Amino acid sequence: MNKNFKRTTVTTALPYANGPVHIGHLAGVYVPADIYVRYLRLKGQEVLFIGGSDEHGVPITIRARKEGCTPQDVVDRYHNLIKKSFEEFGISFDVYSRTTSDTHHHLASDFFKTLYEKGEFIEKTSQQYYDEEAKTFLADRYITGECPHCHAEGAYGDQCEKCGSTLSPTDLINPKSTISGSKPVMKETKHWYLPLDKHESWLRQWILEDHKEWRPNVYGQCKSWLDVGLQPRAVSRDLDWGIPVPVEGAEGKVLYVWFDAPIGYISNTKELLPDSWEKWWKDPETRLVHFIGKDNIVFHCIVFPAMLKAEGSYILPDNVPSNEFLNLEDDKISTSRNWAVWLHEYLVDFPGKQDVLRYVLTANAPETKDNNFTWKDFQARNNNELVAVFGNFINRAIVLTHKYFDGKVPALGQLSEYDQATIQEFVDVKKTLEEYLDVFRFRDAQKEAMNLARIGNKYLADTEPWKLAKTDMNRVATIMNISLQIAANLAIAFDPFLPFSAAKLRNMLNIDSFTWESLGSTDLLAEGHALQAAELLFEKIEDSAIDAQIQRLLDTKKANEQAAWQPQAAKEDIQFEDFTKLDIRIGTILEAKPVPKTSKLMQLLVDTGLDKRTIVSGVSESFKPEDMIGKQVPVLINLKPRSFRGIESHGMILYPSDAEGKYLLMSPEREVRPGTVLA
Ligand code: 2FM
Ligand code: ZN
Repeated sequence: MNKNFKRTTVTTALPYANGPVHIGHLAGVYVPADIYVRYLRLKGQEVLFIGGSDEHGVPITIRARKEGCTPQDVVDRYHNLIKKSFEEFGISFDVYSRTTSDTHHHLASDFFKTLYEKGEFIEKTSQQYYDEEAKTFLADRYITGECPHCHAEGAYGDQCEKCGSTLSPTDLINPKSTISGSKPVMKETKHWYLPLDKHESWLRQWILEDHKEWRPNVYGQCKSWLDVGLQPRAVSRDLDWGIPVPVEGAEGKVLYVWFDAPIGYISNTKELLPDSWEKWWKDPETRLVHFIGKDNIVFHCIVFPAMLKAEGSYILPDNVPSNEFLNLEDDKISTSRNWAVWLHEYLVDFPGKQDVLRYVLTANAPETKDNNFTWKDFQARNNNELVAVFGNFINRAIVLTHKYFDGKVPALGQLSEYDQATIQEFVDVKKTLEEYLDVFRFRDAQKEAMNLARIGNKYLADTEPWKLAKTDMNRVATIMNISLQIAANLAIAFDPFLPFSAAKLRNMLNIDSFTWESLGSTDLLAEGHALQAAELLFEKIEDSAIDAQIQRLLDTKKANEQAAWQPQAAKEDIQFEDFTKLDIRIGTILEAKPVPKTSKLMQLLVDTGLDKRTIVSGVSESFKPEDMIGKQVPVLINLKPRSFRGIESHGMILYPSDAEGKYLLMSPEREVRPGTVLA
């Protein structure tokens, strides 16, 4: 960190208040930012931690329309839910406000006016889709139509969700307004643009030359934007939800959500500190750090800095630690598909286990690449690391002290070589943690903190004080003293990562004040210091709790598949003569056995009335042989023989399948003679 910095302003991306927050949010932005802020505070640095909800933008108006309420109702509901979730998970914001606040409306509006008056915008008119019935311009998401690439119906004006193509509204075939259902028309509209092309040269220098230390994913994304060349970006929209554009002739226009949202960081600071907010945003001795997800990189590294620079009185970010994405059980987290672990639901199922989730999300943090959360890993990390190592060590250290020394820290005697080697292993813990935390490597830092618990656990397991208690109490005293010093170190080292457990541990150790500076010392607890009773720091998570979570996800997947099911497109018409060429009859299955070394194939012997023949079907995953024997089924008997794994199949049995692709048997209503023709 540059020596000239006196204080740090830490911001976290403002989540859209159109849904609750999930583990992806925590892992990507809020837990790492909270670890960092807690670390700086522990070091006694001046730091301000800013959060808030992003309450403007089209997705919020869409949600309101769907639910038949106002956008304000939507944001009120979710702002409160999100704020509560963050509090419950110990995200220690100094302020968590919202972009619908008066302070924000004024500040964002003034910011726009300043840029406008300084001539920092260009005005352009363009043709955009307009709904004549609803008398409104249409945001991209309010237009649907046929995708020009895959021809799916219902593609949005900005994207086809079926094939994933990025679109613009004019690409859609047969566009339709989702507001009135009418066909939109093109109409001229005026907007204000930030000419990013004019900022390109200083941005290149500032990012590509002066900030080579930014994470490779952040630096790389900026470089590719800059290498393609920047274009002017519209900072206003035709929408009836947002902050009105504060200039004449801008009726019905609001600030683009990505123009006002980052200004929200500043407004929230101002709301908290009406008289001293400027020093956190304008003093060159303040260091600004934005924690964000990777989809926000361009806005925080290019657009917002260009806005700040154009305004002229603000500092620019010193670093923008951005994470990649967290997947859930190998699938992309998705609000619309309900593929997520919602924080408020997690706390219902795992009350009091905030730190377990914080721990697992940091251990798997998507710092350099997308990563995966699985419930089995969650359970394993809790049971094998938090319980078996950290919790076990603490419990033994405190319980044994109560048992042998009446709960008081015993005297340190002569150190053995092993004691000295153990101490050597952790004296540098502060330096190691700092090396990682200072460069936002939270996974590695937490691993180091956990390593301290491993050192303690191994020390107790190796020295076995419970065996020495009968013969050498002086030795036991030394071992317990060293163990308690390690426990006290853990209470400091884990404070940024697991704040609830660290506080509980300090309570057991009866520590009421501590400093980061003392991390690594062996005299944190004085001889005679009285401990409190031992409590369990972590508890085992049983298979049943994990199975219930996995089942919930399986149910979600099934529901999604069913919702997504669409009938296959109809085939071309055929002549009656074509149909008569097919010889379909009822056959009776006489024998059935799976084809060895295949997962799908089943070899069947079928009585077709004309003969008994072998037919191979790909249905082993749907039926057991005994379910098939004796059943009557439709068989296409004049299909040319085909060979499967060396077995010749003479015909084809016809089966319907359900939404998950599982086959069913279709039999006549009552038994008929084998060989009966279907016509
Ligand atoms: O991507 C998002 O969820 C945005 N709401 C983030 C905004 S960050 C900042 F600019 F407010
Ligand atoms: Zn498509």
